[in-house]
Amino acid sequence: MKRPRVLLTRRWPAAVERELATRFDVTLNDADTPLSAADLSAAMSEYDALCPTVTDAVTAAVLGSAPRRVRILGNFGVGFNHIDVDAARTVGIVVTNTPDVLTDCTADLTLTLLLMVARRAGEGERLVRTGNWTGWCPTQLLGRRLSGKVLGLIGFGRIARAVAHRAHFGFGMRILFHDPQPPVAAVCNAYGAEACGSVEAVLERADFVSLHCPGGAATRHLLNTERLAHMQPGACLINTARGDVVDPDALIAALDCGAIAAAGLDVYAGEPAVPDALKAMDNVVLLPHLGSATVETRTAMGLRVLENLDRFFAGHEPRDRIV
Ligand code: 8YV
Repeated sequence: MKRPRVLLTRRWPAAVERELATRFDVTLNDADTPLSAADLSAAMSEYDALCPTVTDAVTAAVLGSAPRRVRILGNFGVGFNHIDVDAARTVGIVVTNTPDVLTDCTADLTLTLLLMVARRAGEGERLVRTGNWTGWCPTQLLGRRLSGKVLGLIGFGRIARAVAHRAHFGFGMRILFHDPQPPVAAVCNAYGAEACGSVEAVLERADFVSLHCPGGAATRHLLNTERLAHMQPGACLINTARGDVVDPDALIAALDCGAIAAAGLDVYAGEPAVPDALKAMDNVVLLPHLGSATVETRTAMGLRVLENLDRFFAGHEPRDRIV
């Protein structure tokens, strides 16, 4: 029997690519640069499975290209706002993602940003690297401690809960959250977390706010000028979710006028472009979308895609089916 043809739009950890090649007729993107819309459209007629990442815009136009051979999108990642899932549903393409396996790493990176912002680690590193450090001083780069502070989480899914666990039990923070579908009290209690009835209620009480909602139309610019104005003047914003959850102009304005104290960002609307205004601000820590970037996690993500493809091509329901 002919093996299904599978396209990986980007290079994956070598161990996973090797494993995939034992099961499927795999094509790799040797250039490892994002595919164009034309490349993605052409792939729709050449492969049985397309495995995109966050750098691929899998639009309705791409999904509608004819003739179509692709039957499944095995997304490498948990977030899928780069895929038009309604269009996939309409044309009957199955879509899967990779939940669970990146929860801990993404929570770790959230804590990394939280600590970097609170302790001004980016500024400190720049001071040393630029040769401008003249020696220890009692008042140099004083940050804020996390212990006893309030961490407000927007969204309380898997990653937010892993953040709450680390922040509460590891750093003694108090946890507030808002989620349109909050879990039962016993789950909140397990993370020492208090549910709030609105995003604003979290913003008003939190010393640090961390975003953990999905990207896409429903949450686009959730943090806009009005909502940012609800944050405390000394508060810091952390975003490891999706760039478009925050209105970048509103964030820059809020940082500029001191309406909020600092920000730690791992994701951006229009990645890899990052507004120059943010790059120029010392009170902003900027990372290049590293949430799940560990060898262990990226390997596990690839194996999870493999499991989804395996089940699909064996005629079973894939484990992580979204559509
Ligand atoms: C991934 C992520 O690395 O999985 C996600 O949703 O944001 C990242 O951790 C990236 O999306 C891979 O496609």
